[in-house]
Amino acid sequence: MHFTLSIVVLICLVGFAHSKSYTPFNPNDKGSNVPTISIVGGTAAAEGELPFVTVLRLGGYLCGGSLIGPSHVLTAAHCLTAFTQVNVTQFFVLINTLSVNGGGPNYVLRGVKKFIIHESYNIKPKDNDVALLVLSSPVAANSRFLQLPTDPAVATTLKPAATTTGKPMSTTKSPTACSCTCPTIKPSVVNGKTTKQPAALKAFSTYTNVTAIIAGWGTTSSGGSISTTLLKANVTILDNSICSRQYGTTFIGADMLCAAAPGTDTCQGDSGGPVIVNGVVVGITSFGRGCADPNFAGVYTRVSTYVNWIQTTQANNP
Ligand SMILES: *[C@@H]1O[C@H](CO)[C@@H](O)[C@H](O)[C@H]1NC(C)=O
Ligand SMILES: *[C@@H]1O[C@H](CO)[C@@H](O)[C@H](O)[C@H]1NC(C)=O
Ligand SMILES: *[C@@H]1O[C@H](CO)[C@@H](O)[C@H](O)[C@H]1NC(C)=O
Repeated sequence: MHFTLSIVVLICLVGFAHSKSYTPFNPNDKGSNVPTISIVGGTAAAEGELPFVTVLRLGGYLCGGSLIGPSHVLTAAHCLTAFTQVNVTQFFVLINTLSVNGGGPNYVLRGVKKFIIHESYNIKPKDNDVALLVLSSPVAANSRFLQLPTDPAVATTLKPAATTTGKPMSTTKSPTACSCTCPTIKPSVVNGKTTKQPAALKAFSTYTNVTAIIAGWGTTSSGGSISTTLLKANVTILDNSICSRQYGTTFIGADMLCAAAPGTDTCQGDSGGPVIVNGVVVGITSFGRGCADPNFAGVYTRVSTYVNWIQTTQANNP
């Protein structure tokens, strides 16, 4: 069996249908005028299983997103670069639905007030591919949300000092590095002794070899038809060295992770959607070469690197 997933979605694709509001997607449509989302090698998600995985209808584009709070959806920057703030009138967030067109017993539809793209996002090589949408009105406070990674002490070990240009320098393994930001971390974690920590405290680990869930409504093969139903699949998060061998310097391990499984991958239309480990969004579907190509894993934004940015941006844009 080949091992690797393929790539994730290339951009949200979709088609420039230029619809003023979202129009139903025909599952038989193929090609560039259909949004995509789909997961290659996936199985259908059950009602209520992944209520925090959202459909983003962005003008004519389709992307995925993660509901991380009553008013905030995490997605990929590359889903939004075609737009300015005036375009939010054509944005819709479909929450707690299995259908790319919305609907179902607990379906919630929201508009978008504004979006914020990471200041350092750049198209080449798609570094810092993270953005937030602010919903037009909050969803119920007791809705289910995806959690952000919560262990900055371990995360600092991921980022070599040489790559921190423009970002705060991390003090690897120093207890004081966390003294004001992570009071709940056990001292042993702060000291870098993570081997016996419960999984729940390892959110900022590298996630190497961890099984994660990918989900979306994108195409079920590269260039194929979208899925009108939410699909999910398991993938394995790979060691950064494997991703670097596949993608060369395009892969920036401090800011990205890659994941794969035989015959399984994210694909067009899945962009912006989550990689989930134990209810935590650890990745954002960003890019890949092909879909489920055994030689190329899907590449995802490494969310742990952006927790501070996400939380600050949420606070500044309620
Ligand atoms: C954004 O809105 C403007 C003004 O309505 C429109 O001309 C433009 O096509 C929109 N951009 C996209 C990518 O849909
Ligand atoms: C990940 O799994 C591979 C293959 O089983 C193994 O060689 C490697 O040591 C593992 N890495 C980690 C960090 O667990
Ligand atoms: C996906 O992974 C979970 C947790 O590791 C496991 O329980 C489940 O059976 C897996 N599903 C498939 C389809 O392999």
